[in-house]
Amino acid sequence: MPKIPKLLAIDTSCDDTSASVTTGRVVLSNVIASQTQLHKQYGGVFPTVAKEAHRVNIEPSVRMALQRAQTNWDEIDAIAVTIGPGLAPALEVGLRYAETIAKQHQKKLITINHIEAHALSALAQPKSRSLPLAAQLADIEQMQLPALPALAVVISGGHSEFILVKQIGTYEIIGQTIDDAAGECLDKIGRALNLGYPAGPLLEKFAKKGHLGRFELPMAMQGQTTFDLSFSGLKTAARALITKLEAAQHLDAQATYDLAAEVQAAVFGQIIYKLERILLSPDLAQKTYPSRHYLKHLTADTMPQTPIRSIWLGGGVAANRELRRQLRALLNRHAKKTGQQLKLLVPYTNKLCADNAAMIGVTAFYKWQQGLFSTTDILERQPNLKIANSHP
Ligand code: KG4
Ligand code: ZN
Repeated sequence: MPKIPKLLAIDTSCDDTSASVTTGRVVLSNVIASQTQLHKQYGGVFPTVAKEAHRVNIEPSVRMALQRAQTNWDEIDAIAVTIGPGLAPALEVGLRYAETIAKQHQKKLITINHIEAHALSALAQPKSRSLPLAAQLADIEQMQLPALPALAVVISGGHSEFILVKQIGTYEIIGQTIDDAAGECLDKIGRALNLGYPAGPLLEKFAKKGHLGRFELPMAMQGQTTFDLSFSGLKTAARALITKLEAAQHLDAQATYDLAAEVQAAVFGQIIYKLERILLSPDLAQKTYPSRHYLKHLTADTMPQTPIRSIWLGGGVAANRELRRQLRALLNRHAKKTGQQLKLLVPYTNKLCADNAAMIGVTAFYKWQQGLFSTTDILERQPNLKIANSHP
């Protein structure tokens, strides 16, 4: 069996400092030093504050990641680090640190695209409680990749993308937000409601107590014939509604809950709407958008079979249970219609949804297998890196 390396991974792309030790797809430690409390007062991420906090937190995070994985530098085979996309000053801290420790401990460097890592985060596996690590890594069934192509659905504070995973390392974005990301939309609406930052988790909690039907919010992009998404119109409409309710002194607790439910329904409804059409596309290779007429007249005989084998959910918003419930419901509907049962893979813990270094380590394992090491000692940050060119 080829060697399965042990990797030390680092992510400082945004507002969390994270370090992790992984081997293959197995996560041995995943330390996240959250800066949420620091940024709360600004209602968003403040780059210079993030940079300073990364500087302070990175060394102890790495030390703790090694400790929790019960390992040391001698056993580490390479260092993986996020090179982009992300906040330039924040990325910088992780890259400089990775360079330094790579030199100090004479390790190879692997640079990772943060979005690719979110896309692959559902592949990460926890360390088995019953099997010794070597036996777990040798278990082909556990370690095998799901059938490809897959569709990675990355929904975070910075990104909302449908990514066709043809092979690990070969991707095609088939739809993405044309303005705000879904998480950004949730956070901005949450800010208007004074929910603090980030608002996604609180909106999820409130939405459970809310009822649909009291307020009307727009569902964007239904008239478009692409798989793209848009959330800025929804944000504007929700903010206007909040201002109106506040002026009339009608924004009581129940109104906030109802609004949260409506906002979630609009955000997730749009994602589900587009995903359903991706799965029923008559020719996904051409990104052909199914027309209303085509969908209306589909019969058992003309029902298309999607090449997509499974859906991989990732990104901060992927932690949301209502989104997962709606995705499972969609896949059940799809199975009834087409006979194709697609599997939904979700990260095994919420820690893997938000920004974390374990997903960087898991992605780096595939780069290791492909021999994709950094050829330079000086890593240049790529704040606007796209997934299509994911071999930085
Ligand atoms: O992936 P992530 O940690 O950072 C980016 O790379 O963007 O995503 C953070 C986003 C925030 O917008 C946050 O509000 C959202 O994920 N989020 C959630 C939930 N937990 C985090 N949104 C909805 N429901 C949640 N439970
Ligand atoms: Zn992220």
